[in-house]
Order: sequence, then C-alpha cells, then structure tokens
Amino acid sequence: MTLFWSLYVTVLSLGTIFTLTWLLFTTRRGQRSETTDETVGHSFDGIEEYDNPLPKWWFLLFCATIVCALGYLVLYPGLGNWKGLLPGYSYVNNETKQEFSNGQPGWTGVHEWEKEMAKADAKFGPIFAKFAAMPIEEVAKDPQALKMGGRLFASNCSVCHGSDAKGAYGFPNLTDDQWRWGGEPETIKTTIMAGRHGMMPAQAPTIGEANVPNVAAYVITELQGRKLPEGTKVDIEAGRKVFSTTCFACHGAEGHGTPAMGAPNLTRPDAFIYGSSFAQMQQTIRYGRTNAMPAQAELQGNDKVHLLAAYVYSLSHGDKAAE
Ligand code: HEC
Ligand code: HEC
Repeated sequence: MTLFWSLYVTVLSLGTIFTLTWLLFTTRRGQRSETTDETVGHSFDGIEEYDNPLPKWWFLLFCATIVCALGYLVLYPGLGNWKGLLPGYSYVNNETKQEFSNGQPGWTGVHEWEKEMAKADAKFGPIFAKFAAMPIEEVAKDPQALKMGGRLFASNCSVCHGSDAKGAYGFPNLTDDQWRWGGEPETIKTTIMAGRHGMMPAQAPTIGEANVPNVAAYVITELQGRKLPEGTKVDIEAGRKVFSTTCFACHGAEGHGTPAMGAPNLTRPDAFIYGSSFAQMQQTIRYGRTNAMPAQAELQGNDKVHLLAAYVYSLSHGDKAAE
C-alpha cells in the first residue's frame, strides 16, 4: 500500500472511532442523570418517550466496543501498513520455525490455516506413514485406519459417491462386488491415485439406429435374463449379431466387462450407473457415455490415498462390509 492510501485508511478508521467516542461523551453530558416521569414531548400514534438518560450498562457496552475496536487495530494487520502485534510465524512443537507460503508478515487467516495443517501433519504424519507401509488388506482390518480413511472419504469422496459410498446416477457404488476398473486392493489404489476416464463411444453411427433397440433388447433378455416392456417389437437375433461384432470388443463376448478399459459388466443391471431400463440403455448405446474419476495423487498424496484405498476395499470385504 502506498503511503497515501496507508494514511487515508488510518485517518479514516481512527477518525471515525474518535468521533463516535466524542459523540458518546458529549451527548451524555447533556442528559439528566436521574430517571424521570417527564416525556420528551413527542407522541407517535400515542406512544411517548421518557426523557431518561442512556442506561449505564448500555453506555458501558459502547465503551467496551470502542476498546475492542482499538485492540483489534493494534493486534491485527489492516490499519494501513501496520502489521499488528501478533506474530506472523509460529513454532511447530516449539522447535521448527514455520515459514508461511505467502510471505506476508503479521496475522492472516492463511497463516492460521497453515499452522493448523502443520500441527496436523506433525501429529498424523507418522500414523499415515505407518499404515502406508502395510499391505492394503491389512490396513483394511485396522479400526483406527478405517476411522481415518472414513473421515477422508467423507470430506473428499462423498460429494460424488455418497456418504454411504453407494453411488448415485453417474457415480459407481463402491460397496458392492462389481468393479468397472477392478476391485483388487492395488487396482483400487491406482484408480484413486491416477483417476479414471470411462469412455464409451456413440454406437448408433456404427451399428445403425435400427439396431439400437435390437442390441439393448438382446442385453436385457439374453445377458440379464430380464423381460422387455410389454408389446416391444425387436429383432433379438439382429441384436445378438451386433453384440458379437461390436460390443464384445470392449464388454467381452459374454458381456462380463473389461476392467482394463473401464467397460462394465453388462450382466449386472443392478450396478449400472446410467440406468438399466430399456429406454435408458438405448440412450447409452445410441449416444455413448463419458465420465471421469478425478486423480487424487496430488491432492492427497500417497499415504492418504493408501488409507482411502483400504477404506474403500473394506466396504465390500470382511466384517466391515456388513456395517
Ligand atoms: C467429481 C466426482 C468424484 C469424486 C470427488 C470422486 N470420485 Fe470416484 N469416481 C467418480 C466417477 C464418475 C467414477 C466412474 C468413472 C468411470 O468409470 O467412468 C469413479 C470411480 C471410482 C472408483 C472405481 C470404481 C469401480 O467400479 O472400479 C473408485 C475406487 C473411486 N471412484 C474411489 C473414489 C475415492 C476414494 C474418492 C475420494 C478420494 C473419489 N472416488 C472421489 C467420481 C468421483
Ligand atoms: C470402445 C469400447 C466400447 C464399445 C464398443 C461399447 N462399449 Fe459400452 N461401455 C464402454 C465403457 C468404457 C463404458 C463405461 C462408460 C462410463 O463409465 O462412462 C460403457 C458403458 C456401457 C453401458 C452403461 C452401463 C451403466 O453403468 O449404466 C451400457 C449399457 C453399454 N456400455 C452397452 C454397450 C453395448 C450394447 C454396446 C454395443 C452396441 C457397447 N456398449 C459398446 C465401452 C464400450
């Protein structure tokens, strides 16, 4: 801030406080000191006002706010170029001096946040590191690890996968036995670390619009053993042909899916994320679908992702799966 603006802010802030203080004391001097039955003479719809002094507690409250205002201005930065008396650095465990990333002296919210983070890292870092050195299946059996993983999940993953991890439209359920990308512990960790990009190209241009209902009907009846809506007219045999010449390349000859490319198992409509009705599946086949799981490596780092992978793994394995 230039000297001009620094002075401008300082004079305006202090000037306002001193003017209000002066106003408070001078108006008080003009008031009577005793309570009275006399009114000031105004009447608003029959409501009159006693000519009484400002109550003492009220006056003292005013004084207290003035003192607090001055206190704040002395302690915190804000008054022009004044940095405030509170330190802009802290000591982690009373030893290491913690430097702040924004290089600003004085108290700021950023500094406070960094202090909290440094404290948390000092406290939890060794615990994270301990679990990160254990195999994911082992971590998934440790109650403390699952508690920490659950908390990480709640703040980073539940927006998309739901607080119960059961997913929603467009977001997979992480508690069942169905995996689009694979459910091995290390595969889950890779998914979380690097993210995933699911991509099914629109099929109508390849197979022809007329075959869209045919192949959807084939998947529903032959692969899933379900019934079509009453009165549906389709050519299931044409659908079978389309499946074995086009869809099989990604979803497999039997429709069991290919985890390497995130192509889901088509025999399990309960795990579909875009809907499993005849109409919804035609939409998927006609226009294709794309979706992304955001990479967490940079945001969370290896140790936290390790805990998250263990937590996710526990949701469908062992006693924890029942909870
Ligand atoms: C912005 C939304 C979003 C957030 C946040 C998110 N995910 Fe995902 N996640 C997805 C989507 C979408 C997919 C499916 C990707 C695909 O296959 O197209 C997915 C897939 C996954 C899978 C693979 C599931 C399978 O069937 O193979 C795992 C495991 C997973 N997420 C875990 C997590 C964890 C743990 C977190 C928190 C660190 C997280 N996700 C945060 C959207 C999200
Ligand atoms: C190039 C590979 C590829 C081909 C070819 C392909 N798919 Fe897919 N399919 C995928 C992928 C990958 C996904 C997951 C997309 C996502 O996660 O957003 C998917 C998703 C789906 C879904 C949605 C499942 C859900 O969770 O809601 C259906 C249904 C489906 N495919 C059916 C078919 C049918 C029928 C064909 C043949 C006409 C076909 N696919 C051809 C790769 C393919």
